[in-house]
Amino acid sequence: MKIVKVEHLSKEYGSRETIVKALDDVSFTIDKGEFVAIVGASGSGKSTLMHLLGGVDQPTSGKVWVEDTDMYTLDETQLAIFRRRQIGLIYQFYNLIPVLNVEENISLPLLLDGHQIDQEQFERIIKSLKLEQRRTHLPNQLSGGQQQRVSIGRALVSNPAIMLADEPTGNLDSKNSEEIMSLLKHFNKTFNQTLVMITHDEDIALMADRIIAIEDGRIIRDERIRS
Ligand SMILES: Nc1ncnc2c1ncn2[C@@H]1O[C@H](COP(=O)(O)OP(=O)(O)OP(=O)(O)O)[C@@H](O)[C@H]1O
Ligand SMILES: [Mg+2]
Repeated sequence: MKIVKVEHLSKEYGSRETIVKALDDVSFTIDKGEFVAIVGASGSGKSTLMHLLGGVDQPTSGKVWVEDTDMYTLDETQLAIFRRRQIGLIYQFYNLIPVLNVEENISLPLLLDGHQIDQEQFERIIKSLKLEQRRTHLPNQLSGGQQQRVSIGRALVSNPAIMLADEPTGNLDSKNSEEIMSLLKHFNKTFNQTLVMITHDEDIALMADRIIAIEDGRIIRDERIRS
């Protein structure tokens, strides 16, 4: 089952003389449960692509479907709701809310949506992230690896259609990096959670099912390395 469909997607920044084609006519699909690594040099357009997959930016042209929703036909309010329910975002620098504790940061997307928290599922997430002993800690009382685990929890709590991660291990030492990768793989394999991840690290890219390489805003390689 196709969970993402991207058609002729382009993004330009600036205008006239200063125009930058950050993404240039990109098309591809992603199956449910796939783990896709996006690789490419700095400035090649990886984050631009991720923002467009996640509905956090507007394309210059082209379309993005997530499940059966043509994302950029939604108005701003509909898009914000769609994003909260169907897109899980993970960044290099965690982006947690500093005044909210671990439990509150993780449950925030559900609370914003006016949803009750499924206690059982919530406990399962806290446990698999090994955060049971840190429930009431604030972000600045946590290590980098722990903060990233909280942000994974926040991304997972609404059962999103896709998880998008931009260099999730970019700020971590090798031990924490391995731990985060094994967690992401766990959610991908055990719960068939679709995962799209940008990385500069070749070893990490090789953990994916498929590697898409980007250069100057275009896909130059798209290889399945695992089925
Ligand atoms: N808001 C913006 N305004 C103008 N140009 C931008 C903007 N955001 C990105 N760009 C340009 O678009 C191109 C692609 O940027 P993008 O952030 O997608 O690269 P990237 O592949 O994620 O790089 P990195 O590996 O360094 O994170 C770059 O040339 C960048 O300068
Ligand atoms: Mg980037």
